[in-house]
Amino acid sequence: MIGLVNVAYLIAAILFILSLAGLSQQESAKRGNIFGIIGMAIALLATIFGGETGHIALVLSAMVIGGAIGIYLARKVQMTEMPELVAILHSFVGLVAVIVGWNSFIDSGEDLFLSDTMHAIHLTEISLGVFIGAVTFTGSIVAFGKLRGIFSTKPLMLRGKHYLNGAAILVSLLLLWVFVASEKAGIQGTALFIMMCIAFAFGWHLVASIGGADMPVVISMLNSYSGWAAAASGFILGNDLLIITGALVGSSGAILSYIMCKAMNRSFISVIAGGFGTDGSSAASGEEIGEYIEISAESAAEMLKDASSVIIVPGYGMAVAQAQYPIYDLTQKLQARNCKVRFAIHPVAGRLPGHMNVLLAEAKVPYDIVLEMDEINDDFSETDVVLVIGANDTVNPSAETDPNSPIAGMPVLKVWNAKNVIVFKRSMNAGYAGVQNPLFFNDNSRMLFGDAKDSVDAINRGF
Ligand code: TAP
Repeated sequence: MIGLVNVAYLIAAILFILSLAGLSQQESAKRGNIFGIIGMAIALLATIFGGETGHIALVLSAMVIGGAIGIYLARKVQMTEMPELVAILHSFVGLVAVIVGWNSFIDSGEDLFLSDTMHAIHLTEISLGVFIGAVTFTGSIVAFGKLRGIFSTKPLMLRGKHYLNGAAILVSLLLLWVFVASEKAGIQGTALFIMMCIAFAFGWHLVASIGGADMPVVISMLNSYSGWAAAASGFILGNDLLIITGALVGSSGAILSYIMCKAMNRSFISVIAGGFGTDGSSAASGEEIGEYIEISAESAAEMLKDASSVIIVPGYGMAVAQAQYPIYDLTQKLQARNCKVRFAIHPVAGRLPGHMNVLLAEAKVPYDIVLEMDEINDDFSETDVVLVIGANDTVNPSAETDPNSPIAGMPVLKVWNAKNVIVFKRSMNAGYAGVQNPLFFNDNSRMLFGDAKDSVDAINRGF
């Protein structure tokens, strides 16, 4: 039976790798998901019916209840709420790692047969699992709160924060040593408990001190932490597949964090240590810094009729308005008039990696006219009209000009170089990073106020 379980685990691991490979391209993403689902089904069946799991009825009941809640939430969740859902799911993985660690410490029956070295390694696994799990748990809850607007997106600036973080790590290492070296269960339990509490506070502080503009990196970083927490649980439980799966999630999350950091021109270490971006002298939320010019949907339609090249820049507002469908109608109308239409995607547009690509794919926009920032950023100067649909921070020129801005140094789409820019939004309110956008006050910019879907529908009626 053990041989069969190992074969099943191997097949599941290969399917997980194929799944990740599939998810790296839009065209193959669906196939990637299917591989992942089959792999997980095989892994679950092998684990539950592999002979080592007791209380199967209890496990199955928990799965039915958990599965039902999962299906309900997945059906109910809006695309704009996905990052929050992901953040809260990461917190579950963290909490589970903490519980698995404690469970293994309390129920140490099999440890009696371990050599001293193996026993020390096992205790180290437990403390690492509890530490990483606790950091992931509270960090993910803060990330959830920030994304949901329950907590402020401004970075928490405690005095001596880096010393606090350093002290938390040092004291935790000391407690790890006490936990492993001591032979008294009471002392071990106390050390593990204090370390867990420090890790809870550390995770909370780590994410609370990161500013809103750096949240994309935090989300992928927590994704990575949750993978390492799962891998730690795998070591504690002696489950090879959990180790492989956790390592896959951990390393792919780390690679994604690195890509996000590069895309935002941030150093990984400084983002993790927090404190990037102060609101400093930057114009705060909604503060007007000049005169802006409004345009009606009818005039926008006339401008578009005369255009021979158009670039559409979607952002979070497109997701809120669900404007992708009428935008594709507009694209087809423009193409029918021989206008060259392309989409420009900023790597952190929206609220989760690939957010815009998923929405555009949903509306059946062909992949070959959807271009990444680096592929299209030099083309704005030869473009007649740019439609900025609910994007703000990702087209904010102050990222290049204002060193005090929370988004300073982040590469942005240089839409202002186009002949005309039409900005679709509902008000003069700021974007996610909470700063005003000088683009809106340029001579070649026009503001089209209203819900983006309603505005695009109105333009479509003008054709
Ligand atoms: P944002 O800067 O957040 O701007 C979105 C704009 O959409 C707002 O100015 C808002 O203005 C407008 N809007 C909202 N609802 C609308 C509607 N129904 N119709 C029309 N407009 C609407 O978006 P962005 O340019 O996509 O930038 C993304 C930001 O989120 C970045 O700061 C990024 O760092 C951050 N972030 C990204 C991620 C990932 S991984 N992508 C994760 C977390 C955070 P009004 O309110 O005036 O309408």
